[in-house]
Amino acid sequence: MSIFVTGGAGFIGSQFIRDYVVQNPDELVVNFDALTYAGNLENLDPVAHLPNYKLVKGDICDDQAVLAAMPDGCAAVVHFAAESHVDRSILSAKEFVVTNVVGTQTLLDIARHKKVGRFLHISTDEVGGSMEPGQWFTEDMPLNPSSPYAASKTSAEHMVRAAAHTFGMDTIITRTSNNYGPYQFPEKLLPLAISNAMQGDPIPVYGDGLQERDWIHVADNCRALMMVLAKGRAGETYHIGGRNPLPNLDVLRLLLKVTGRPESLLKHVTDRLGHDRRYAVDFTKTTRELGWNPEIPFEDGLRATVAWYQDNQQWVRRARSGEYRNYYERMYGGR
Ligand code: NAD
Ligand code: TYD
Repeated sequence: MSIFVTGGAGFIGSQFIRDYVVQNPDELVVNFDALTYAGNLENLDPVAHLPNYKLVKGDICDDQAVLAAMPDGCAAVVHFAAESHVDRSILSAKEFVVTNVVGTQTLLDIARHKKVGRFLHISTDEVGGSMEPGQWFTEDMPLNPSSPYAASKTSAEHMVRAAAHTFGMDTIITRTSNNYGPYQFPEKLLPLAISNAMQGDPIPVYGDGLQERDWIHVADNCRALMMVLAKGRAGETYHIGGRNPLPNLDVLRLLLKVTGRPESLLKHVTDRLGHDRRYAVDFTKTTRELGWNPEIPFEDGLRATVAWYQDNQQWVRRARSGEYRNYYERMYGGR
């Protein structure tokens, strides 16, 4: 048996693969990744030597490359690959449409051709747009994306649902809230703030810092993804969250407490354009149908994450300097 994972060198995809290859030694995991700036093969060091793990460097928009790499009749495609950073989508949206929409459609077409068992599409709570204070996003609410990133992820979801409806493909969509944990590229809030705090550098707080995000540890998310993959109902959408929406300033103050740094490091800067005020996912359905709940309390997860960044300063230094991008040539000789 085999599964085809896209974007497995990124933050969440690499956690999924590190867990999956160990838990399923009889299954081959093909990691198909273009190794963009967000793809870091060092994230897979703990499992890269295992016989049931295989890396293929390729772009999900490249039909021939996907066709060659996806095993015939594989049990599942688990589709993480994306342009994933909202700030980058504000600077330039086109790459987001290409990778997130055209890339997803390419995978759907080839998965159908190859008679793949199940297509698990990883989406985001951001497709629902900004929630009102106290409001929670449920699976049946209308989609209302605000940023170019969220709009591209919404378009991708529509293509996935269209493939299920039109061709009877077995697809499932998951929408996750903000993940945090080890191996996250230091451009998103928490890894950026942790590495800045460690160096005593200022931490940028967009606008008033009262925007709320619903934090979930990446290991909790990947456990949910495996349950959805194994037991989810075809055609359904499942929410995955931390049940813990917090204002950014509260998160950063806790982080400074954990790292023993002063609050004077927080620097309010110009707000992000079109900044959504609140994300909060209601995952009652996932708990009811699959028995999943998040298990890692935020403060514990944050302490463990800070400890990981402190213990892995070489990874942080190489991620920030861009050195990690030479890894593929060094390890795989440019194949
Ligand atoms: P990431 O940016 O860390 O990693 C993305 C990965 O996709 C990288 O390895 C990159 O090389 C690869 N990739 C990009 N373009 C590609 C292409 N054209 N072909 C092949 N590979 C390509 O992303 P992440 O934070 O791990 O997020 C993974 C998925 O989860 C994304 O679909 C994202 O939208 C979704 N998501 C993320 C979060 C979060 O908090 N990080 C929350 C909800 C949903
Ligand atoms: P981010 O990690 O980019 O995730 P998303 O925008 O997908 O939720 O940002 C999380 C929150 O932190 C969001 O409200 C924007 C804010 N933010 C800052 O205040 N400063 C920063 O330097 C960054 C990157 C984000």
